[in-house]
Amino acid sequence: MIFPENFVWGAATASYQIEGAVKEDGRGQSIWDTFSHSPGNVADGDTGDVACDHYHRYRDDVSLMRELGLAAYRFSIAWPRIQPDGRGKINPQGLGFYSRLVDSLLAADISPYVTLYHWDLPQALEDEGGWTNRDTAYYFAEYAQAVHEKLGDRVAHWTTLNEPWVAAYLGYGNGVHAPGRRRAADAMRSAHHLLLGHGLAARRLRSLGAENIMLVVNSAPVLTPAQVNDPQATPDAADAVAVHRIHTLLTRQFLDPVRHGSYPAEVLEAAARNGGTGHILDGDLEIINAPIDQIGINYYNPCVVEAGPGTPADPAWPGSEDVRFRTADAPTTAMGWPIVPDGLSRLLVRLSGDYPGVSLMVTENGAAFDDVVADGRVHDTDRVAYLEGHLREVHRAIAAGADLRGYLVWSLLDNFEWAEGYRRRFGIVHVDYETLARLPKDSALWYRDVIGRNGL
Ligand code: FCB
Repeated sequence: MIFPENFVWGAATASYQIEGAVKEDGRGQSIWDTFSHSPGNVADGDTGDVACDHYHRYRDDVSLMRELGLAAYRFSIAWPRIQPDGRGKINPQGLGFYSRLVDSLLAADISPYVTLYHWDLPQALEDEGGWTNRDTAYYFAEYAQAVHEKLGDRVAHWTTLNEPWVAAYLGYGNGVHAPGRRRAADAMRSAHHLLLGHGLAARRLRSLGAENIMLVVNSAPVLTPAQVNDPQATPDAADAVAVHRIHTLLTRQFLDPVRHGSYPAEVLEAAARNGGTGHILDGDLEIINAPIDQIGINYYNPCVVEAGPGTPADPAWPGSEDVRFRTADAPTTAMGWPIVPDGLSRLLVRLSGDYPGVSLMVTENGAAFDDVVADGRVHDTDRVAYLEGHLREVHRAIAAGADLRGYLVWSLLDNFEWAEGYRRRFGIVHVDYETLARLPKDSALWYRDVIGRNGL
């Protein structure tokens, strides 16, 4: 199974999950510092204070990437390192760190894929309302400009936001993520302001000369329980409504305005029932509809639903009236997430049809398992099987015509898995949190071989 020439193989991480050094070189506080330091929010009271100490070990980490043969490394910039107060004054030391990281990547022949926002909002902005405050979108574009001015001569691939659904609905809806607010109306407002920030930043980056601009979404195929194992199964009318509703909230809410310049009617109706639509101003959709080049897809598992009377039980899902969330009949990872590899090809084929005119990239895919280190090895056969199964589906989607340009494994390193802390390991490289030593797992060595032969 050989992949197209120039298919981009890589790995992804995010700033707060790996960097540590939270008080160094003028970094300001982020909402994840505040959140993780408030008891009860993160498993075992873990925080990102040290994480993988990547801030000090980035050179070694880049060497490791080179040994694995990665062509691309997707990482995120911590906004509070660049603007400790979220706006105004720029911190040159923060920019300096990412500039050195970019230089070492380029020296190792690895393309940097920069994500500007992977959830670590400056706390100073949250104190003024965070993403519920429209101003945050405008500050985001200022920040994007500051980063581009420093790195734009060497970075070709720019992502505005990572997973705006998660940032809005887990951050402001059910409070499982920072800032831990719990109000459906705030979540819907935040979702719109994130999109506005995306559009403003995309336009700004473009005007500064950026040629590859991407938005990364956490999309998933929405399936009935029967469809999980039988793609041909046809849901009845009520189930079909439930499926359509969740697909609209999860994916169309973001990609329709970005690619088609309009919100689905169901999203506007849900907003009307949850705080109103007054925050959506004339001209916003035109800004959000800014041209982009690529859509990044983070895929882990399908979303399984059926019809079931009731109002939304979870404030992360305003608009999900008469939908019941189900578990899939499938084996699961250590996160409890069902393993459904062909969900990925179903998703990619659908999105390439629904949103033509841009290429796609799998910007995250991977799995947490309870890894065991024995005799200096991690035999993570379950992770290898997960990755291999999903790569087959990537190949299948390409064969079916999806314009898919690359695949980035989540994650390069074991890291701070948000509300789950360090107990969930997603890395292809093991991190010993006592010594911070890195140890490539069998999956890393397997991935190196996949990259080497450009196929399975
Ligand atoms: C995604 C996030 C990423 C990581 C994986 C497991 O939602 O973008 O940071 O936590 O899930």
